[in-house]
Amino acid sequence: MVSDNPAAEIEDGLAQLGDSFRQAFAAAATEQVLRDAHARVLGKKGDLTLLLRRMGALPADQRKVVGEKVNQLKSEVEAAFAERLAAIERAAREADLNAVPYDLSLPGRTLAPRGHLHPLTVVRNDILDAFRDLGFVVAHGPEVELEEYNFTKLGFPPDHPATDMQDTFWIRPGLLLRTHTSNVQIREMLAHKPPLAVVSAGAVYRKDEDITHSPMFHQVEGFLVDEGVTFAELKGVLTSFAERIYGPKTPVRFRPSYFPFVEPGAEVDIGCVFCKKADGSRPGCRVCKFTGWIEILGSGMIHPVVFEHTGIDPERYTGFAFGVGVERVAMLRYDIPDIRLLFENDPRLLAQF
Ligand code: PHE
Repeated sequence: MVSDNPAAEIEDGLAQLGDSFRQAFAAAATEQVLRDAHARVLGKKGDLTLLLRRMGALPADQRKVVGEKVNQLKSEVEAAFAERLAAIERAAREADLNAVPYDLSLPGRTLAPRGHLHPLTVVRNDILDAFRDLGFVVAHGPEVELEEYNFTKLGFPPDHPATDMQDTFWIRPGLLLRTHTSNVQIREMLAHKPPLAVVSAGAVYRKDEDITHSPMFHQVEGFLVDEGVTFAELKGVLTSFAERIYGPKTPVRFRPSYFPFVEPGAEVDIGCVFCKKADGSRPGCRVCKFTGWIEILGSGMIHPVVFEHTGIDPERYTGFAFGVGVERVAMLRYDIPDIRLLFENDPRLLAQF
C-alpha cells in the first residue's frame, strides 16, 4: 500500500488497536477467550505485528517516535492482559467455592463393592435352616436374664460349682448376662405345652477370653419335647444336622458328658473335616489334636427336673436338647484360627467370605 503519510496511518492504527483490545479483553469471560484476544494483538500474525512491519517504510526520526508509542501500547496490552487474567481466575475460584460441593446429576459409581452378610450370620442362618427344615420353629430369648431361668430351673443348685463352669457376668444378684441359650428352653416350656420343637439363636456371655473363647459368642439352642421321644431321635436329628452342615456321611460320635439339665448328657463330635482323606480315613491333624474328631455341640435327654420346674409332666413327656456354638462351626468351616478375628470387623478378613 502506498501512502502519503505512513506515520500518521500507523498511529491511527495503534489508536484503533488500543480501543479494540481493551474492548475484547473486557468482554473475555474465560481464560481461553482472553488468550485468543491477546494473540490477535501480539501474536506472530497479530494486528500489532502487522503494523510494526510497516514501520520499515518510515524515516528514522519518525520511526523513533512511532516506536515509542508501539512499546507503550505493548506494555499496556500486557498489563491489561495480566489484570484481566487474574480477574477471570478469581471469578472461577469464587464460583468453585460457592458451588454445591457435589453433582447430584452424576451417575452412581460402581467402584464400591457390594456388601454381604457377616460369616457368623451366614453360619447362624444355615444352622437355623437345617433345623427349620426338620420342623423346628424359631424362638427368641433375652440376653439379660434371671438367674432363675439361666441356672435354677435348669437344675443348677444355688452356688453349685457348675455355675463356675460358666463364669458369669452378674448385673446384680439374681440377674445376669445369659451364659447360654438354654434359658430359652425354660421360657418356651413355661409358655407352651408339648409337643414342642424349638430352635433359638443368640449371643451369650462368659468371662473367658483366648484364641478359641470370647466373652461374647453365639449359640443355637434346640429342643424337642413329646411323648415317647428317645435318644434315638436325638441321634437322628443331630446326625442329619451334621450331614447338612458338613456333608453326607460325616461320621458323628456321642461322648458321655455332664450338664445339670440333661440326663444322659453327651458331647457330639464329628469326624475331622481337616485331615479327612479321599478313602474316608482321618490320620489326625493340629485342628483335631490328632484324634480325628472335633467337638461341635453339647446335648442330652432333658432332665425330669426341668419338666417339673416348667409344669410339664415328666411321666408323660420326654425330650432332648442341644446347644451349638456358632463361632465354632464358622471357624471350622472357614478355617479361621482365632475367634477374635470374627469380631474385629476388619474388611481384609470379611471380604474373603
Ligand atoms: N447349654 C450348654 C452349654 O452352653 C449346651 C447344652 C445345651 C448342653 C443343651 C446340653 C443341652 O454348654
